[in-house]
Amino acid sequence: MSTGSAFSPWSGRFSEPVAERVQRYTASISFDYRLAEFDIQGSIAHARMLARQKIIDAVDLADIERGLGEILTEIRAGQFVWQLALEDVHLNIEKALTARVGDAGKRLHTGRSRNDQVATDIRLYLRYQIDAVLEGLQSCQQVLLELAERHADVPMPGHTHLQVAQPVTFGHHMLAYFEMFFRDARRMADCRRRLNWLPLGAAALAGTSYPIDREWVATALGFDGVCENSLDAVSDRDFAIEFCSAAALVMMHFSRLAEELILWMNPRFGFIDLPDRFCTGSSIMPQKKNPDVPELMRGKTGRVNGHLLGLLTLMKAQPLAYNKDNQEDKEPLFDTVDTLLDTLAIASEMLAGLVVHPAAMLDALRQGHATATDLADYLVKKGLPFRDAHEVVARAVRAAEMRGIDLAALPYEELSGFSVLIASDVYAVLSVEGSLESRQHRGGTAPSEVRLAVARARERIAAA
Ligand code: ARG
Repeated sequence: MSTGSAFSPWSGRFSEPVAERVQRYTASISFDYRLAEFDIQGSIAHARMLARQKIIDAVDLADIERGLGEILTEIRAGQFVWQLALEDVHLNIEKALTARVGDAGKRLHTGRSRNDQVATDIRLYLRYQIDAVLEGLQSCQQVLLELAERHADVPMPGHTHLQVAQPVTFGHHMLAYFEMFFRDARRMADCRRRLNWLPLGAAALAGTSYPIDREWVATALGFDGVCENSLDAVSDRDFAIEFCSAAALVMMHFSRLAEELILWMNPRFGFIDLPDRFCTGSSIMPQKKNPDVPELMRGKTGRVNGHLLGLLTLMKAQPLAYNKDNQEDKEPLFDTVDTLLDTLAIASEMLAGLVVHPAAMLDALRQGHATATDLADYLVKKGLPFRDAHEVVARAVRAAEMRGIDLAALPYEELSGFSVLIASDVYAVLSVEGSLESRQHRGGTAPSEVRLAVARARERIAAA
């Protein structure tokens, strides 16, 4: 970036140049250059509309289109020199255009302000990025469905309070995350729908006296329509906040999954292994294989949460309409997008490489009296009130604990001593397989239900 002096288009009313420190403080070019593609897209649509409305002539339009095309090529090739003195992406591009095509470049800003320009750019940027987020979420969901299908029969301990609770299948557990990401995708799609309205035409804040055609620009840029109110159009960034909020939820879901992967990879669990390419070693302890990637997913959730709070705070006390505060919306938003897209890409690859250890899961399941509820339900089905059944099973669990074995391993003579209702068919419900099989309803963990849920999930993705 060049830091040399260049006069801002607004410097006419000023008697001295802006102090260097102030220039750096107020400039946004070091980060908003990322909006360049969208800025040019917006400018071309605006210029075409100006020509259609006879506000500029056809020759000017041709010059503007050619100039902006050349500038875009330069930017893409990394050859464009951004100037700090020109403050932001909008003024940099406009100045470069005028240097190339003369007066036509100076006419581009007719009926427009940087206020409606930047509001348009961010919406175009975010719409584009949301499409990438949706793709990333989609591929994570696909991987989860494959995992669920492949492990529909693999029993694992389901936990509450991180204590063994009841048997579930690994497939069922993966489907829980599928549901979370499915909702996340819907939220992102909603956010996209709400932001897809065109601010251009609002100009600085009050609209413009030129005979513009906002609807034409909206259609040209793929918006669903125009923002109804000019003050609102230039001032609110609720769509960026909404995106960050949806992103924070995605990250929160990944953070929970990451936490589980970290626990499951600990040899005390030993439920899974992550491919080496997603782990790192220790510089001092030669034996170590650390789950750095899931740890960073958990960690990066913190910065996305921070960006959400930052944007809410940025917006909260701003009077209408545009204020320069809004320039601070970009860095948190860009970083949220970058973090989220990286997380999605790496998560889908990592999950695809997940190695599952069913024997360790079964082993853990045999140590936590995981089928105690099934025994209580068995007694209830034979006529005992549930609270009494709970009591009977609690006593049986205590006896198993004293012998250092699982409830399901208690010999029949001993187990049947706890209630006359206990007969030899009890082992069908005490077994892990029996417990899983019995949960045959929509949303239940029976392997057959997991397979049905996977099939339904595929249809839901296709229809979404
Ligand atoms: N760089 C500015 C921003 O990001 C562009 C709009 C500037 N508008 C103004 N009136 N100073 O918000």
